Amino acid sequence: MAILDILTIPDKLLKEPSKPIEQVDDDVQKLLDNMLETMYDAPGIGLAAPQVGILRRIVTIDIGEREEDSMQDKPGKEPFFMINPEIIWTSGEPSVYQEGCLSIPNYYADVERPAEIIVEYIDRAGKKCELKADGLMATCVQHEIDHLDGILFIDHLSKLKRDRVIKKFTKLKKAQTL
Ligand code: NI
Repeated sequence: MAILDILTIPDKLLKEPSKPIEQVDDDVQKLLDNMLETMYDAPGIGLAAPQVGILRRIVTIDIGEREEDSMQDKPGKEPFFMINPEIIWTSGEPSVYQEGCLSIPNYYADVERPAEIIVEYIDRAGKKCELKADGLMATCVQHEIDHLDGILFIDHLSKLKRDRVIKKFTKLKKAQTL
């Protein structure tokens, strides 16, 4: 496995739409594994392929939580690999979470999204799955799927706030390359 480079704003690839995966082959599984390792290393709770410069509809998620009633002797992580994820239902009820993004380091802001969702996706083994999620998981899935459409969480903020963040990172990058 390998740690991949994570792109940060204002990288143009982060604004591009990603293409679906047609077949879950060795290359796709390898990419998933590398993305998961990269996400854990960052550390983050979600990562989308375009964030590592690959415009394909793939995300990894691990919000680091297990079912309340799960046994204490099952420590560790619960990774989700989602290929071609699609939200097929959202609740009318909104919820607000303070979001962050590995592509926008050290910046956090409140974003309102549907509180509950149902997502359809293909897992690492190529099996079609459906997941009903709420809380942090629902927010995370929506945030990551946004990435596949070239949408960042700052796109949900006011133009004033967004422009301020982009300007800050543009300046930062310029300073680093001088
Ligand atoms: Ni993100």
